Amino acid sequence: MFPESTKAGYTFEDYKLTADWLLSQTEHRPLIAIVCGSGLGGLADMLKDQTVIKYSDIPNFPQSTVHGHAGRLIFGNLNGKPCVCMQGRFHLYEGYPIWKVTFPIRIFKLLGVQTVIMTNAAGGLNQDYKVGDIMLMKDHINMPGFAGNNPLVGPNEEQFGARFPCMSDAYDRDLLKLARKMGAELGYSDFLREGVYCVLGGPSFETIAECRMLNRLGADAVGMSTVHEVIVARHCGMRVFGLSLITNLAVMDYESEQRANHEEVLETGKLRAGQLEKLVTSFVSRIEHNNNF
Ligand code: HPA
Repeated sequence: MFPESTKAGYTFEDYKLTADWLLSQTEHRPLIAIVCGSGLGGLADMLKDQTVIKYSDIPNFPQSTVHGHAGRLIFGNLNGKPCVCMQGRFHLYEGYPIWKVTFPIRIFKLLGVQTVIMTNAAGGLNQDYKVGDIMLMKDHINMPGFAGNNPLVGPNEEQFGARFPCMSDAYDRDLLKLARKMGAELGYSDFLREGVYCVLGGPSFETIAECRMLNRLGADAVGMSTVHEVIVARHCGMRVFGLSLITNLAVMDYESEQRANHEEVLETGKLRAGQLEKLVTSFVSRIEHNNNF
């Protein structure tokens, strides 16, 4: 028996109920899910033949509380591929338990999704990075996980996956290769990077000492999302591709006058949004799926 405090609040039947309800609301049968990060919700607007469903109308679904996150699921076709977009995600800093943060990911699995594309806004720790760079996620560091805050804590939900899922292949290498290729074809090589994303709980931004430490530990970018979702997606066998928009540079120097703030994050999102959308759209059209994935 697991102690009461570690019990996840959703049963398999809860996930199933939500997924079945969604399937009854739309004819779309998505193979790809796209999670839109802060300021990147515009991606969802690119979908054709949309079915739009507000989180507040979906049984069991948490509500998005952050400025820059709309709070809607959008079903539709992106470049001919059936997709579902999360316009607005959930974060630990909103006060949600971690199993609520990742609830939509298991719903995607039950909808038939095979590939999840994660996007986020992140602070650049790598000294070579510039504001506006797009970082393809090669790996992650799960800082809350070091302290036991992992979305898979508690009884294992066997219908979704194994007790001890592997994470050394979390970010699909074929998809990374494809994204690299698409980026080069689009002429984005100057601002396309590849690196390690570190998640923290937030909502306070990092201190200078924390940024220095994270950089020395091998993180290239820091943010407050994505990793929990990636873990749950991998647990249930979906392929993952992630990209971070570097919206600000982490302050590493006591002489610096720079201060991280959410407005800057949203502004940079607007500046680079068009190119990021083009990258994701071209990428999606080239992802291959098969019936027995
Ligand atoms: N730190 C944490 N999260 C972030 C940042 C940052 O500098 N920028 C965007 N999200």
